[in-house]
Amino acid sequence: MLTLFRSKPEPLSFESLGTDIHAHLLPGLDNGAADISEAVLLASGLRDLGFKHLFCTPHISKSLPGNTPDTVLAVFEAFRKGLSAAGITIELSLAAEYLLDEGFEELLEANSLLSLPGKRLLVELQPNRAEVDLRTLLFNLRIKEYLPVLAHPERYHFLPNYKKVIAKWHERGYEMQVDILSLTGYHGSETRATALWMLKNDLVSSLASNVHNRKELELLNRSFESSKVREAVRKIGEKGGNLTV
Ligand SMILES: [Fe+2]
Repeated sequence: MLTLFRSKPEPLSFESLGTDIHAHLLPGLDNGAADISEAVLLASGLRDLGFKHLFCTPHISKSLPGNTPDTVLAVFEAFRKGLSAAGITIELSLAAEYLLDEGFEELLEANSLLSLPGKRLLVELQPNRAEVDLRTLLFNLRIKEYLPVLAHPERYHFLPNYKKVIAKWHERGYEMQVDILSLTGYHGSETRATALWMLKNDLVSSLASNVHNRKELELLNRSFESSKVREAVRKIGEKGGNLTV
């Protein structure tokens, strides 16, 4: 009888999210996949979880001077070939996750940023960055017509008054990407609580795997055990999925 009143079935895959906009799949570039076999395993795992399109988003920061658009593109092309040799079919694209550090302004000036569709730029904060610098950087991004997508703001407890800051970013039209594993408690209870607060207040634009290794892939596989994950996937799915808000 109860089932008569249940409006929609619980999502048990990430299919309704469509695109994974944050994943450290490219082998050997950062703290993501260690080698091509792990990279192939992660991509096929994300496909099996329902994602239709994967963005490879290696870290780009001053501390990783080897990660330039040219070098990451070369690894991306090799990875694409490796996937196809392994018989894995999935749409694959290249973007990046930019740390808003002292080197970022230079990259912005050079206009050689690897962005997501709609000139969305996935950015993460440097913990010791002064708030005023941050405001200027995000503002400068808008001047160049990039749309900032804040990577996992639910984890930015180092910012004073972080909830107010997140709400302000949302008011300014910036997009907010929450890590799926934040909802399971993988990043701690405060992060989980902030992610749930963001969901409740419609501050979440997208849910991403931000996967780095096989352990996190296993946790993503088990994440549907959490009713909060199912609820979040349903909510973003009902808005049309990632990249559509
Ligand atoms: Fe990341």
